[in-house]
Amino acid sequence: MKIGSPEHKELFCRSFIDSHVVYEPETLPWPALDELYLERMRGVPYWEEVFYAERRAGMVVQSFAKTVGDPLLREAIDLQGFEEARHARLIRAMIDRYGVDAAERPVAALPDDIETAFLDFGYGECADAFVGFGAFKLARESGFLPDAIFRLFDTFMQEETRHIVFFVNWMAWREVNAGPFRAALRGATSALYHGRAVGRHLKNARQEAKGGRNFSAAQADIFPDGLDVRRFLGECLAENERRMSGFDPRLLRPRLMASIGRAVLAGAKLWPAKKPAGAPGSRAA
Ligand SMILES: [Fe+2]
Ligand SMILES: [Fe+2]
Repeated sequence: MKIGSPEHKELFCRSFIDSHVVYEPETLPWPALDELYLERMRGVPYWEEVFYAERRAGMVVQSFAKTVGDPLLREAIDLQGFEEARHARLIRAMIDRYGVDAAERPVAALPDDIETAFLDFGYGECADAFVGFGAFKLARESGFLPDAIFRLFDTFMQEETRHIVFFVNWMAWREVNAGPFRAALRGATSALYHGRAVGRHLKNARQEAKGGRNFSAAQADIFPDGLDVRRFLGECLAENERRMSGFDPRLLRPRLMASIGRAVLAGAKLWPAKKPAGAPGSRAA
């Protein structure tokens, strides 16, 4: 399979379109939650943010699809836009079903340069998905919410995985067809956009810290005691591997985040693990 060839385009578009799952978020089997689980779900302060991020994603992707001339590419990108908008409906259905507090507000206006917005969004998804894979697995194992909820959201995770596999293949196809110079710079382009995604996250984190948002109570319930960077990255890498293994081997996969994750993990292994308080040799002993 030659990357950038018409066969490559056919494969990454068709496999994306053919793996679309039909469902309506409002009629999914949402489980009844007892008071403890309701309190935990309502205590997560990010649902409103996730809802608006998914709504905006649907608008960015569907607006970009309208500018794409190739009918097969347009169909695939438009379908991704539909799935992003359905993610917003999924979060909305959950908010309504469980009485989560989330204010109504307008969606921020889309930028004039919709192509750059789509690229920023696509690389941002690659970065977020890698971290999200590990966080989702750990949250599921912790029993923070009943497994029936995680089963519903596993479809959401699978869709995000399809989106980033589609995106990196589309991007490679596009850059190869833009000439040898752009093709040679593919790695640098990817690194640049990943850097922009991390920059946006740091900016948001600073704003949230200023606004005094506190996720620690919910975090303490979701993630196990003693979770360190090694365990977390190990879970991200293993889940990334598992989820990516389900795609046609001829397709490209997002690689940068996993490479960074492996490098950080290798570096972290050079440092002695923190000993539990009270253990011989620990500072508290
Ligand atoms: Fe989404
Ligand atoms: Fe997505």
